[in-house]
Amino acid sequence: MKHKSFSTQYTVIESIDELEDSERSLCYAALSALQTSYARYSGYRVGAAVLMDDGAITQGANQENAVYPLGLCAERVAMYSAASATAERKMKAVAVTTEKRSTDENVPAFPCGSCRQVMVEMERRYDCKITIYIFGPGTPVYKVNSARDILPFAFDDRHLE
Ligand code: THU
Repeated sequence: MKHKSFSTQYTVIESIDELEDSERSLCYAALSALQTSYARYSGYRVGAAVLMDDGAITQGANQENAVYPLGLCAERVAMYSAASATAERKMKAVAVTTEKRSTDENVPAFPCGSCRQVMVEMERRYDCKITIYIFGPGTPVYKVNSARDILPFAFDDRHLE
């Protein structure tokens, strides 16, 4: 019998203002994406921004539907949009921010399992690691260096070969 374990490295940065310029711009893009959130049913707004290796930033926000399961998370809206724009570029980073209907207490929300799975696919597709920044209003910024760090044991293309 062998016992094994994972450990996840992450960085906590006290505020957006302490980030490097390019990281801060990406986080501000995620904040401005909140404006296009359509969160009619949950009241929970999510904004995302994707940075490609040529510096291009693509924004996305959660889009809900009266048929609840048809809604799509901000991260996937942004990633699929960025990936559709051109095949020439690699994905470097994703920033995600959230805003509840009541703002008394905010906890930065890490991407849901489905979005993590899509992030892992993007890392396989572009053969790169994607840095992820997660923050809420007034919370520190949580930074992880790869989607794999937040989705160990991910299913990927290699399982299908
Ligand atoms: N949501 C996201 O946009 N990203 C996540 O990672 C978690 C959840 C959205 C989906 C839905 O519109 C709302 O938040 C509440 O679940």
